[in-house]
Amino acid sequence: MTDLHTHILPGMDDGAASAEESLAMLRMQWEQGVRRVALTPHFYPRRERVEEFLTRRDRAWQDLQRAMEALSGEERETLPALALGAEVAWQSGMGDWDELERLRIGTDGPVLIELPFMPWSASLMRELYSLICRSEATVLLAHLDRYMRSQKKEHIREIYGMGVPIQLSADRLRGFFDRREILALLKQEKPFVLASDCHNTDTRPPCMGQAAKTLEKSLGAQGHAKILRRSDALFPSAAQSGM
Ligand SMILES: [Fe+2]
Repeated sequence: MTDLHTHILPGMDDGAASAEESLAMLRMQWEQGVRRVALTPHFYPRRERVEEFLTRRDRAWQDLQRAMEALSGEERETLPALALGAEVAWQSGMGDWDELERLRIGTDGPVLIELPFMPWSASLMRELYSLICRSEATVLLAHLDRYMRSQKKEHIREIYGMGVPIQLSADRLRGFFDRREILALLKQEKPFVLASDCHNTDTRPPCMGQAAKTLEKSLGAQGHAKILRRSDALFPSAAQSGM
């Protein structure tokens, strides 16, 4: 399995607070059958420049690498392969940035974009579509489920029409009502992928293992494998570390 949306990199955002917590989350991922993990800390273009974010991300990556190097060979072998990325908050005009490429997951993975929670406008939809058409990188839209009730249905339909992969939150398969809603979406022939968006080991932990079981029960082995394969295919060809 592959998890394309996580906040495991230490000290970057509201995710893992230390390299120890990062390692604990990575071990949870491995135990749940996840073999590839994208590290996608929040990037808010209104708060910092891309260069500053990447410098911070490098430091956090070095912290995590040091913690991994201190493990035994056997412990290191039971950690997933990792790729650096970002969860890029939407910013008007970002389609013109040369630097968007640098925020991809790995060197040839998708760029994960988080749309705003305030009401979407027709101009945002147009701008997003033109970014998708022009971007070298595949655009992966983060947690569409979080907008289903607050955004206009016509905008959600437009998103479907853009033909890009759309991430849904794996942790929402845990609650009864949320589960019904997410499974109903996943049964549609849309390019959905499932990712954990995990932030820590307790309140928002890695949860792909349980989500995959729920998926298999509801969609059968083929339907479940089809969805999980989409994430495998989006993971970059060269991981930063691991397998
Ligand atoms: Fe996230």
